[in-house]
Amino acid sequence: MTTVALIGGSGGIGHAMVGALSNMGSISAIHASYFNSPASSSLGNISSFGSNTSVSWSQLDASNDAAVSAWMKHVGQIDWLINCAGFLHDPSKGPEKSISQFDTEHFNRSMQINTLPTLLLAKHAHRNLKQSNDPVFATVSARVGSISDNQLGGWYSYRASKAALNMALKTLSIEYQRIAPSIKVLALHPGTTDTALSKPFQNNVPAGKLFSPEKTASLLVAQLSDAKHHHSGRFIAFDGREIPW
Ligand SMILES: NC(=O)c1ccc[n+]([C@@H]2O[C@H](COP(=O)([O-])OP(=O)(O)OC[C@H]3O[C@@H](n4cnc5c(N)ncnc54)[C@H](OP(=O)(O)O)[C@@H]3O)[C@@H](O)[C@H]2O)c1
Repeated sequence: MTTVALIGGSGGIGHAMVGALSNMGSISAIHASYFNSPASSSLGNISSFGSNTSVSWSQLDASNDAAVSAWMKHVGQIDWLINCAGFLHDPSKGPEKSISQFDTEHFNRSMQINTLPTLLLAKHAHRNLKQSNDPVFATVSARVGSISDNQLGGWYSYRASKAALNMALKTLSIEYQRIAPSIKVLALHPGTTDTALSKPFQNNVPAGKLFSPEKTASLLVAQLSDAKHHHSGRFIAFDGREIPW
């Protein structure tokens, strides 16, 4: 049986991931975190997902080194770590159409939520994963973080923070090849998914290309289950296709 630590379980994709994992039948326990939203996280108890998976919720600021350290100690041994936290816009600022809209505070917040947590989780999670037979360290990234795939421009802070996240994951996969080769490190692109994060930007999404959180979650969980058959340090989309870094 597999034990999972899932960060950002109160988000659109994260919450659906908790549901999809609970329904797998092979997951014994999920340690899920929220940051601001304990209300939606209360939906994620065992009975609401209709399974025997034990789901426990706790608050975590994944951009705080001491808090991540304490949370990983609290969580104990795990097989999969999945980071679903992320940030694109807030009421005061959205993604930049032009460099003239660049804002230092928005950039710093993007780095703080999209990049920093994965580095802190990697710093503290090694001990939690090393007993597992099929350990996975995965973060939900975004295709727009691919440098070579960037055709449209714009979205400076989000793109830069996801590109930095991708570099952190690629670098971690190289270190793990030396010290913990069984741990598979993955950057996951979920596809455009109907959540609060994408809501203001859904108008131009072609028909059929906007996934429900449940669809995204089942596709991503399938990729996590398949991870043991592949090499570490991959950036893959919901359908398993490799995305160039
Ligand atoms: N939706 C899409 O179309 C799409 C496309 C490509 C990539 N992605 C990526 O997918 C991931 C999930 O996105 P989503 O659409 O589910 O977004 P969402 O609904 O806005 O969820 C964001 C999550 O991040 C958590 N969070 C924010 N700051 C945090 C912190 N300091 N520590 C811990 N958790 C924190 C939030 O917690 P609280 O709610 O409790 O504050 C929430 O659980 C993100 O990385 C996003 O960039 C999404």
